[in-house]
Amino acid sequence: MHNSERYETLIQREAKHWGAVQFDPQNPQIWHDPRLFEIFFGKEYRLFRERVLAHGPRVLELGCGDGKFSVEVAGLGLHVTGIDLSVERIERARQRAQSAGVADRTRFLADDLNTISLPSGEYDCVVAHDALHHIFAIDRLMEEVGRSLKPGGAFIVLDYAGMGRFWRILAAILYAVLPTYQPYQAKWQLRKRLKAFLANETEKRVAIALGKSASLHHDSPFEEISQRSIVPAIEKRFVVSTYHPFNPFFFYFGAKVRLPVGLKYIVARTLRWLDDFLLMLRLAHGAYFLLEAHKR
Ligand SMILES: C[S@@+](CC[C@H](N)C(=O)[O-])C[C@H]1O[C@@H](n2cnc3c(N)ncnc32)[C@H](O)[C@@H]1O
Repeated sequence: MHNSERYETLIQREAKHWGAVQFDPQNPQIWHDPRLFEIFFGKEYRLFRERVLAHGPRVLELGCGDGKFSVEVAGLGLHVTGIDLSVERIERARQRAQSAGVADRTRFLADDLNTISLPSGEYDCVVAHDALHHIFAIDRLMEEVGRSLKPGGAFIVLDYAGMGRFWRILAAILYAVLPTYQPYQAKWQLRKRLKAFLANETEKRVAIALGKSASLHHDSPFEEISQRSIVPAIEKRFVVSTYHPFNPFFFYFGAKVRLPVGLKYIVARTLRWLDDFLLMLRLAHGAYFLLEAHKR
């Protein structure tokens, strides 16, 4: 599929999508609000950063986006190469590095992680933050990551592993009935995209193979294309020393439900508590995970 014209069309559409993504007031995300981010991701993000800092100094970030993480750890002394599909995002990452005064410790490259060849034995640490679930050729990329790490190098990932069908159906129902920033009329229109929302990884891959990905995510054909396959792909080539699942379900409503400001963060903390409780009772797996792995 990789060299085919169809792949080129899809990946160009994907790059355009990521270059154009903007804040949507009807569909706010947790990471748009620092207080919500702290509640749902704060602890795990700090652990992620701590592990990366412990392994530097030469770091590669996969799917670095606008360079937020790369620039943050470059500011703490690491030398970071960031790779992202979107030329626009890479340009913004370079500007961010300039403004933060770390341009000499960062390098940003626009490239496709599905097809890239990484240099051998170059990095002490490879990291991915919320990026691997968009990678179609996850197995191939894991091989490249393994080759690019120095002996004893670490692979540190904070990513999305999907919610599972039962929880997705429940999320769709609750989203439809709860008061959200998206008005009910707009939500009614969303029913046409229900199939895409409920599709699991296998269904998405089949749709792409059959040339029917447009029936799922037209603008972002590789949206969540890898979810449950990320950890097995890592385990095949690395020894996993830390695996921490979190945010199985309730996090989904953290930024979306419309509440008076005074209640918003109290409800968010309750949702996080409910998610931790679900995990403790093993009623759901984490939709997110933090993982540290080392070269075999
Ligand atoms: C959810 S964003 C996360 C960005 C950043 N890591 C962060 O946490 O802010 C996913 C990123 O993966 C990038 N991406 C998606 N497919 C890619 C590919 N095939 N090759 C390289 N980057 C890709 C997107 O351009 C986007 O910047």
